[in-house]
Amino acid sequence: MTIRNLDDLLAEGVSGRRVLVRADLNVPLDKQSGEITDDGRIRAVLPTLSALVQAGAKVVVCSHLGRPKGAPDPQFSLRPVAGRLGELLGAPVHFAEDTVGDSAQSTVGALADGQVALLENLRFNAGETSKDDAERGAFADQLAALGDAYVDDAFGAVHRKHASVHDVPARLPHFAGRLVLREVEVLSRLTGSPERPYVVVLGGSKVSDKLAVIEALLPTVDRLLIGGGMCFTFLKAQGHEVGTSLLEKDMVETCRNLMERAPGKIMLPVDVVAADAFAPDAAHDTVPADGIPSHRLGLDIGPETVAGFAAALSQAKTVFWNGPMGVFEMAAFANGTRGVAEAITKADAFSVVGGGDSAAAVRALGLDESSFGHISTGGGASLEYLEGKTLPGIAALEN
Ligand code: 3PG
Ligand code: MG
Repeated sequence: MTIRNLDDLLAEGVSGRRVLVRADLNVPLDKQSGEITDDGRIRAVLPTLSALVQAGAKVVVCSHLGRPKGAPDPQFSLRPVAGRLGELLGAPVHFAEDTVGDSAQSTVGALADGQVALLENLRFNAGETSKDDAERGAFADQLAALGDAYVDDAFGAVHRKHASVHDVPARLPHFAGRLVLREVEVLSRLTGSPERPYVVVLGGSKVSDKLAVIEALLPTVDRLLIGGGMCFTFLKAQGHEVGTSLLEKDMVETCRNLMERAPGKIMLPVDVVAADAFAPDAAHDTVPADGIPSHRLGLDIGPETVAGFAAALSQAKTVFWNGPMGVFEMAAFANGTRGVAEAITKADAFSVVGGGDSAAAVRALGLDESSFGHISTGGGASLEYLEGKTLPGIAALEN
C-alpha cells in the first residue's frame, strides 16, 4: 500500500495553501455544563496541526461531534472544542458557524498563512453520513472546495464510510496525518506477529458489539480476559444465574460455542461486585460469580478476578485492552478497571489501549498515560482494524 503522509505534503510545500484536516474531535462533554471532560482526542491531533501551522498553511479543521441527525443541533456544536484547541495550540482558532455555508467560506477565505479555522459539526449536514453515494458526493464536493489538499488525522472515524472520510480524499490530493500513521503502525504490530504471550482484555457492555473481534482474535491470542457488562452473558453460558445483570439472551449460545472452541483461552470473572441498583450509592457486595443474588446486578469484577487477570497480564509480552471492567464512572465500581489498568502498566509488555471508553478511563482514574505503549483514539476503528476489515478512511488514502 502506498499512503502519502504529512511529511510528503510538507515536502511539497504548504505555505499559503489551504489544507483541509479531518480530525476526530468527538470528545465527551459534561451533560450539565457542556464542558469538555476529556480532551485526549484534541491533544492527539496537535502534532499534525502544529506542523501545518509552522509550515504556513491555512489550516481548515473539520470533525464530527456526537450523533446529531443531519441538521444543526446546538448541544453538538464544536464551538467549545474550538476554544480548547486554541488554548492548546497557543493561537486563536477561527470558528465557522456552519460546515460548508457562508460562514465556512468567509472564515476560510479570511485565514492568513499559519492560521487555523474549525468548521461546525460535519454531521449537521445529512450528506456526511448518507448511505446514498450521490448525496454524500455532493456534500464532499462542497467540503473539498474549502481545501487545496486533504489530511486525514481522524483515526477514530476511519471505519466510517462518511463523506469527510471516504469521499473527500477522492477529490483532493490526500495524505495521512501523524496520528493516523502512528495508530496504523502500532495496530499492525498486533496483527502481524505479536510477541507472546499475547493477552487481550475485553470489557464494555455488549457481547454483540465485540463478537466480530472475539472471533478474529480467538485463534491468535494466548489469553482472552473478559470483564465489563458483557461478562454476564458468558457467565450465563457457563450455567450461572446473573440476577438482574446485563444479559444478551440471544448471545448465550454463541458465548458457549466460543468457549468450547478455545478451551482454556477465555478467562471469566470468578467474583463480581453486585449492587441493588445502577447508582453510585447503591448497596453492594462482592459475591462469587456463581452466587449473584437474583435481585442484584453486577457492576464490576471482584478483587479475586482482578488478581487472576493481573497474574495472566504479568506474563504477557503484548497486551491489547478495550472496554472498562465495570462502571468506572462510579467510584464504588471502579476498582476492577483500575486494577486491570494498573496490572497492564506493570507488565513488561507492549501494551495498547483501544478506544474511547478505556482511554477515557485511563485518564479519569488518574493513571499515567505514558506507562502504556500506546493509547488509541479509536474505539470502533481499532477493533475493526484488528478484525482485519477494510477501513474506508484508510482505503481512501491508498493510491
Ligand atoms: C467514536 O467516538 O467512536 C468516533 O468518534 C466515531 O464516532 P461514531 O461511532 O459516532 O461514528
Ligand atoms: Mg463509537
